[in-house]
Amino acid sequence: MIDRKTMTTSAGNPIADNQNSLSAGSRGPLLLQDYQLIEKLAHQNRERIPERVVHAKGSGAFGTLTITNDVTRFTRARLFSEVGKQTELVMRFSTVAGELGAADAERDVRGFAVKFYTEEGNWDVVGNNTPVFFVRDPLKFPDFIHTQKRHPRTNLRSPTAMWDFWSLSPESLHQVTMLMSDRGLPTDVRHINGYGSHTYSFINAANERVWVKFHFKTLQGHRHWTNEQAEKVVGKTRESTQEDLYSAIDNGDFPRWRMCVQIMTEEQARQTPYNPFDLTKVWPHAEFPLIEVGILELNRNADNYFAEIEQAAYSPSNVIPGVGFSPDKMLQARVFSYADAHRYRLGTHYEALPVNAPKCPVHHYHKDGAMRFSPNMPVADAYYEPNSFGGPAQNPEYGEPPLPLEGDADRFDHREGNDDYSQPRALFELFDEGQKQRLFSNIAAAMQGVPEFIVARQLGHFDKVHPEYGVGVREALKASA
Ligand code: NDP
Ligand code: HEM
Repeated sequence: MIDRKTMTTSAGNPIADNQNSLSAGSRGPLLLQDYQLIEKLAHQNRERIPERVVHAKGSGAFGTLTITNDVTRFTRARLFSEVGKQTELVMRFSTVAGELGAADAERDVRGFAVKFYTEEGNWDVVGNNTPVFFVRDPLKFPDFIHTQKRHPRTNLRSPTAMWDFWSLSPESLHQVTMLMSDRGLPTDVRHINGYGSHTYSFINAANERVWVKFHFKTLQGHRHWTNEQAEKVVGKTRESTQEDLYSAIDNGDFPRWRMCVQIMTEEQARQTPYNPFDLTKVWPHAEFPLIEVGILELNRNADNYFAEIEQAAYSPSNVIPGVGFSPDKMLQARVFSYADAHRYRLGTHYEALPVNAPKCPVHHYHKDGAMRFSPNMPVADAYYEPNSFGGPAQNPEYGEPPLPLEGDADRFDHREGNDDYSQPRALFELFDEGQKQRLFSNIAAAMQGVPEFIVARQLGHFDKVHPEYGVGVREALKASA
């Protein structure tokens, strides 16, 4: 047995010299048989994997959800089954547009992704720090993201592309107003709210469905930087979020969020003046109050960032009994897109990697493929289904109630008859004078160099939200000219 202090190859063979390559004479060329040198260089060439196509720059940690309130009348999901119950989780926060090495202190939406390791498999809430999104039809998601990434010719970010797309897509106004407000540039991720954003469903023990939205309210309070403060931060460090989160947890200052839900019945969903499955809309709190369900706490840093955070694979398709999807078109697309992205980024068996592996038994009939290392099914002869050898089979207990649908299959114009202005107005009216002035100047700064006709088109949208909004941005533009 080789003692633990002796270095070995990855095949476990002891290594005698890790300082000097094997050469023909002390000044001579190297020998092909120096396998340790070859393996080291070959491994290094394979150290990188593709970065996430969006949300590439991130930070993460492990923690727990502790249930504080009974919501079993809405859902049979076992992680909510009793007050005091704890579920382990891994979280990853991110910025959307920047690449893997981007600075953290940038004005951008923050990703807020939680993987709950429940006894009924993994449940992923892959949300943002905003309750709404820029587009409502997934056909527009790749176009939107192209405006956030680099211009093909200049290889630079393009404010023209951003405002061209936004001004041609008024459904983006709500999210654009949030992005340009104080909360668009948080100091770190401990001081942000998280939102599941989409409408999901809860299904209870009687197999009854209600619609649900998830909220995670920061217990650290909100903190944000002005553009000028952020420029100074980026001048000093590109890793302000990572430094803040890692050191807070390392020092025992564990960040916490109050997890809440909003509930809407199927009947109520037929009555709302807006489409409750439209991702550019919130459900007003006065009509659909927040109900607390638990406290989420982050309390353990990863031992290996790459293995446990970079390789974490979140997907809205991971739901558990008692939690289901909804007709939200964006959610429908995301149910497909994430697992597809993971197969490309991490490989066929990404769900068997330790950080992604469920903490409950897994019984499926997928077979083989690159890097398969999971064990056989419990019964060796049961490698197809149905079989006569006692292999795992479906269980109708987990079925959902049918969802009534109606209408013709067609491509419906999602910009027709949709009120894109009232909810941004409600947000604008929440801002005090200082917040409004910073909103105007942040927009003016982000519009620098954008052609006049695009600016004019966007100002038309701001006017429709609130006359003060359009006037304020015009004045800020003049002041910055
Ligand atoms: P409420 O007055 O009940 O709540 C206002 C909400 O706005 C709070 O959740 C608050 O978060 C949040 N908020 C405050 N400032 C900002 C900001 N700069 N960016 C994003 N969110 C902010 O309002 P209503 O429910 O009637 O909604 C009014 C508007 O508030 C909506 O049109 C929407 O723009 C915004 N909002 C609504 C949410 C909802 O789910 N209803 C969620 C988030 C925003 P906090 O309590 O943490 O301060
Ligand atoms: C990451 C697609 C909308 C939140 C990603 C990734 C893809 C993707 C492909 C990279 C996944 C990976 O490689 O690990 C889409 C599509 C969308 C959409 C197709 C719309 C149709 C949204 C929305 C939200 C969101 C609305 C939030 C409400 C996130 C987060 C991540 C992410 C947080 C990073 C997850 C992590 O930390 O690993 N998205 N996305 N996305 N997306 Fe989306």
